Amino acid sequence: MDEFAIARALHVIAVVMWIGSVSFTTFIVLPVLLRGTVTGESTDTFEQIEARVAQQAKYSTQITGLTGLYMLYVLDGWERLLDPAQWWLHAMIFIYLVFTVVIFVLEPLVLHKWFEEQASTNPQRVLGLVFKAHIVLITLSFLTIAAAVIGVHG
Ligand code: HEM
Repeated sequence: MDEFAIARALHVIAVVMWIGSVSFTTFIVLPVLLRGTVTGESTDTFEQIEARVAQQAKYSTQITGLTGLYMLYVLDGWERLLDPAQWWLHAMIFIYLVFTVVIFVLEPLVLHKWFEEQASTNPQRVLGLVFKAHIVLITLSFLTIAAAVIGVHG
């Protein structure tokens, strides 16, 4: 096994950890909390789960980015970034940047405070909005994973 194969395996494991936890939140946690009346207790539970998800995503996003950059370096694939046919590479980098900005900048500076304010006045509405945002993010993530696998092997 060479270093490239190890980097690729780490890349995929980190993607599974990260996108898997987003998928779990989207398709399991939020639908359970949104069933029936949403209370302050529901939003507290969500915050605790999301804090754990964000904590591990701090590592898994950066392992994904570093192993991805390492693979590009080994492949000497920088020119591929100029080729529109390799758009799936751009899609991966885009998803990485979106989550990195959300986790490291928006969540601590803006989203956390906004969620707490909204949760105290209208927990039902805020959890519904969070669910919609998760649907958008997970759809983009799944499309990116499909495009990457087809781009590499297809
Ligand atoms: C800075 C961010 C990223 C960079 C630079 C990057 C780069 C790469 C590179 C160079 C490859 C191998 C391409 C090849 O063998 O020709 C790859 C594979 C892959 N990447 Fe990324 N990636 C990044 C983020 C992501 C993200 C966010 C996802 C998922 C949402 C993702 C999912 C995948 C998948 C599924 C493969 C295919 C693995 C396989 O089937 O062999 N990557 N990536």
